Amino acid sequence: MCGIVGYIGPKQAAGFLLEGLSKLEYRGYDSAGIAVFDGEKINVTKTVGRLAVLKDQLKNNMPQGQIGIGHTRWATHGRPSDVNSHPHTDCTGNFVVVHNGIIENYLDLKEKLIEKGHVFVSETDTEVVAHLLEEYYDGDFEGAVKKVLAAIEGSYSLVFMTKFDPDKIICSKKDNPLVIGLGQGENFIASDIPAIINYTRRTYILSDGEMAVVTKDSVWVMNRQGVPVSKKVFEVNWDAEAAEKGGYEHFMIKEIYEQPKVIRETMSGRLAKDNSEIIFDELKWTKEDLVGIKKILITACGTAYHAGFVAKYFIEQLARIPVEVDIASEFRYRTPLVDESTLAIVISQSGETIDTLAALKEAKRLGARTLAVTNVVGSSIAREADHVIYTWAGPEIAVASTKAYTTQLVSVFMLALYLAGLKEAIAPERMKELVAGLKNLPAQAHEVLDDVEPIKTFAEKYGFSEDVFFIGRSLDYAVALEGALKLKEISYIHAEAYAAGELKHGTLALIIEGVPVIALATQSDVYDKTLSNIKEVKARDAVVIGIGFVGDKQLEKYVDHTILIPRTEKYLAPILSVIPLQLLAYYAAITRGCDVDKPRNLAKSVTVE
Ligand code: G6P
Repeated sequence: MCGIVGYIGPKQAAGFLLEGLSKLEYRGYDSAGIAVFDGEKINVTKTVGRLAVLKDQLKNNMPQGQIGIGHTRWATHGRPSDVNSHPHTDCTGNFVVVHNGIIENYLDLKEKLIEKGHVFVSETDTEVVAHLLEEYYDGDFEGAVKKVLAAIEGSYSLVFMTKFDPDKIICSKKDNPLVIGLGQGENFIASDIPAIINYTRRTYILSDGEMAVVTKDSVWVMNRQGVPVSKKVFEVNWDAEAAEKGGYEHFMIKEIYEQPKVIRETMSGRLAKDNSEIIFDELKWTKEDLVGIKKILITACGTAYHAGFVAKYFIEQLARIPVEVDIASEFRYRTPLVDESTLAIVISQSGETIDTLAALKEAKRLGARTLAVTNVVGSSIAREADHVIYTWAGPEIAVASTKAYTTQLVSVFMLALYLAGLKEAIAPERMKELVAGLKNLPAQAHEVLDDVEPIKTFAEKYGFSEDVFFIGRSLDYAVALEGALKLKEISYIHAEAYAAGELKHGTLALIIEGVPVIALATQSDVYDKTLSNIKEVKARDAVVIGIGFVGDKQLEKYVDHTILIPRTEKYLAPILSVIPLQLLAYYAAITRGCDVDKPRNLAKSVTVE
């Protein structure tokens, strides 16, 4: 989730590059850099830190030249540092590249390139692209880029430049955005429209697999086979603020719609091609590493705590290790029973939540081994933990967490399978089924997002209710907790989640005529019991919205409305069933005129107690 820019034309490139990057800082801001060709050589300036640090470095030393590329980074492979910043170069500095995405086969490629004598300086996946370009170049820039694109696997938007062909920039994309801004005698490249709208509103939006050769006077777009593609000019009529949100009204809805992509990115390179195992290069644990681990303790706050709640089911059921889940602010003050036999896992989108960080330190102090699941490379929690699994959700800006949650679920599910594999607690065939299920998730998440109209209608109809109840059993209960949190956070409706089996012990007294109850029924092992609970609330005249799998005729019989999600493994259902709940919360907040991205009294990252 980085920001990318490129310029070719009669002006000094650095001016546009820096201004463009400043408009993209919301996409990543742990480091930044630019590369400009001065007529003789390519000058690269890059640094860890915000764009302001780069600007400061360039203040009295602005690179001269009319062609250049730039990047603002959100780290995935390799911590934020000067060398890991983009642009990346080959061994000679003659080829330069910026990248957004993940090159899945970079380790293989890197090994082969090292054998051929290439010298790597960074820990990034991107650097292989620059060396590959050097390797393939034989006088034909375009041909070499085509070979690079054929060799790499993964997701990317990539922009290439070489001193040997200084009148063109070449770019291509797959699963990541890239636009070309069409100017008069100059052209612009950017990962996102905000970077260019002060310069031009005429754009080509590149599609997956397309490659563009950009000169100052022309833009040639071709497909993977090299066949020219005639592109339609897309006239941007968004204002600057809307452009930052990719045309969406709020960051929250933009982030909800990014979920298929970030779920795929979070799995990228971590699922064996034959589905036989989970690959965590960052852990590389063996069976012996688990010897002595008697329990797992998960601590987190807010939405991340709810992800921990789901993780308990995953790990206990698949890896058969006992799991305790605790709210970080409770854990740290309850003199917990933790020692060397504990694996302490903390989950945190920001990696900075003060209570989660304190819980991590406390667990460490007591002798536990520690593992962080976080979205921010180089964050305090990432630095403090013994091991880290990164969710690759990209920057999450809306206060209400959505894409971070689903990528946390994907990560902890992969972790549960990983542990199960190490412990040989899962049959190989079952492992394959579950990994195959994971691979279907991005497409299925798309399907859920395509069916938004009924959800909007419910939100309008019930958006002014005073109370809403969420019920479910097993993993559905865990999702109910997150659904209720989303609704209260942004719409201010009083929302509570209950384990459906607990209703009789008090909550049923609150169920009266017309009260909306969202009932999740995706878990086959407790399905009948959940239906009984639905009947209980229906008998009190509640209005029930049932969430189940497509084709569930029985559920339809007992509820007033249904929201149906594509069929998947029971463990994976939470990753899909939470999406309608996020949408429901979003549209309920819109109906009530709430400030969705900045709900009252709440902060994105809570760094004080
Ligand atoms: C705040 C945010 C929540 C988030 C929680 C934990 O309350 O508003 O969305 O879930 O902090 O944040 P973390 O960054 O640790 O996941």
